[in-house]
Amino acid sequence: MPAITATAPGKIILCGEHAVVYGQPAIAVPVSQVKARAIISAQPNQTRGRINIQAPDIGLMTNLEDLPINHPLAVAVKLVLGATEIDKPPALTLRVTSTIPIASGLGSGAAVSVATMRALSEFLGKPLADETVSALTFEVEKLYHGTPSGIDNSVITYEKPIYFVKDRAEARGELQTIRVCMPFRFVIGDTGIASPTAAAVGDVRKSWQADRSLFQGYFESTGEIVDRARQVLEAGEPAALGELMDENQEILEKIGVSCPELEQLIRAARLAGAYGAKLSGGGRGGNMIALVSKETESQVASALKEAGATQILYSTVANLN
Ligand code: MEV
Repeated sequence: MPAITATAPGKIILCGEHAVVYGQPAIAVPVSQVKARAIISAQPNQTRGRINIQAPDIGLMTNLEDLPINHPLAVAVKLVLGATEIDKPPALTLRVTSTIPIASGLGSGAAVSVATMRALSEFLGKPLADETVSALTFEVEKLYHGTPSGIDNSVITYEKPIYFVKDRAEARGELQTIRVCMPFRFVIGDTGIASPTAAAVGDVRKSWQADRSLFQGYFESTGEIVDRARQVLEAGEPAALGELMDENQEILEKIGVSCPELEQLIRAARLAGAYGAKLSGGGRGGNMIALVSKETESQVASALKEAGATQILYSTVANLN
């Protein structure tokens, strides 16, 4: 039997991170330049039920039963076995690799789960529907993010620009994709600082608990920015979207998820001619994004490198249909 491979992209949040956890909308787009990849190969000489797991990027090479019960790969594999109602699969090796930087706001954890679930379910002859892959990935995300909104698993599973409202889109199978009338180009700059989303989300929750009305105000203002951002994306107005990104960044600074390194990159991008720039994802490190034109793209990328970005990626939001 030939090996089965599945991939899943990274993602960025254009507007609305953190507020989305509290019921406000957010906009996310896939970053297909980086990918998680899962490869499953049959091991016909081994005992049925034996699952060998290799993740060289994190130095992991073990059998499923030797992984901690709540390890994300173990959970992803068990969720697929449950969903496909297969107790003892033919012996197999699952090899996971990824070019998505870890703990940097680009959705690497969700992408690994999506790729694993797709490859394994296909190997078992029962490929899971996108809806199921997204829902099961959300279960894995909950173990690691505590209170994730569900935006990462959704944008990464469907690989389309989405306007997302927690509990709404997924539950009713109503994922809202965004139709843009012209391509929007983003340069993504990595601070090189690893920052697990769970910690930032947890700290925002503590601050919200300490002053609910202040934080509710920040979240609602963010929701308004996101709605305007959707309109200008659909109308093809990059300058207006840039301003909204800057406004969103101001709020993210107030809620305490920015950091000097992110702000240095954001400033550099704006000075180099970006329409707007902000952090993307959990914050406190990880990546920032800058909206650019074809003409300013390379100067913004150079400015980010000079300002200390450890990696530069690109993403263009365009209509896929
Ligand atoms: C993470 O990509 C975005 C956050 O809003 C967390 C979440 O929505 O689950 C910070």
